[in-house]
Amino acid sequence: MLLVSESLMPELVTTAKEAMQRITQARSSGETIGLIPTMGALHDGHLSLVQAAKAECLFTVATIFVNPTQFGPDEDLDQYPRTLEQDMEALAAHDVDFVFSPNASEVYPSGFSTYVDPPDVAKPLEGEYRPGHFRGVCTVVLKLFNLVPADIAYFGEKDYQQLLVIRHMARDLNLPIEIRPCATVREPDGLAMSSRNAYLSDDERRQALALSDSLALANDLVANGETRSASILDEMKRVFKKAGIENIDYIALADPDTLQDVPAITQPTQALVAAHVGNTRLIDNRRIG
Ligand code: PAJ
Repeated sequence: MLLVSESLMPELVTTAKEAMQRITQARSSGETIGLIPTMGALHDGHLSLVQAAKAECLFTVATIFVNPTQFGPDEDLDQYPRTLEQDMEALAAHDVDFVFSPNASEVYPSGFSTYVDPPDVAKPLEGEYRPGHFRGVCTVVLKLFNLVPADIAYFGEKDYQQLLVIRHMARDLNLPIEIRPCATVREPDGLAMSSRNAYLSDDERRQALALSDSLALANDLVANGETRSASILDEMKRVFKKAGIENIDYIALADPDTLQDVPAITQPTQALVAAHVGNTRLIDNRRIG
């Protein structure tokens, strides 16, 4: 077991005032500031974002906040894993300058009623199955950008639509921050890393491979000359059926910028899937063609 001494732990900042003081200081020394927003329960996917930030920023801040406004009424807000101590240890090993983990009451003061109306790209896919989700995401991400004003913010392609939504929000609202995409980190067998994988039983963990397998199959089909979206989607559906997954939210082949369905793969296309494995909802995506 690796023991991390207290002194190596990054500082844990919980108030907006303290966060701003530290950022102002770093800014006055001219340091490039990198921000990594997370909801904690950190895994190697999150940590790859930290590594990307460390590679180009002198000052890096990770945020940990399980944002209530992005969860629907029947979703897993209460069960969502909260592992602050392990997260701090993981971040200590990556040497972030501080961790900002605000209290909900500071992010959403009583009487809070202002939200961001998300861009059009939030409407299909996740937008259809998780109404209100991107409104909560945009609102909290804009808040985090205000609370910890950074030069570059890092987001994973694992949540491809979220990345697009945030890019569009930053462009549309003239936010003075660059949005940096980072590749999806996967388990050796292909499953995309996710904090929600912790919910899976052994059987469900095997079933969950249908997501990455279906994307790999789509990629192979296109590499072998198939261009018709309908046939590719049928083959992808069969992968889920074979794994015993019946509750599929969507399987889509979409334009990588607009997320509108494409009838044929004539240029690079985003394949995106969302399905329930037992009680756990998982998403994945991959560029094909
Ligand atoms: P969370 O799910 O904790 O993810 C935080 C960041 O890590 C996101 O940018 C996500 O895309 C990225 N990430 C997660 N799994 C990854 C993987 N396997 N490979 C690469 N990157 C991965 O996304 C959120 O939190 C929230 O919606 C948030 C943006 C923090 C707003 O509350």
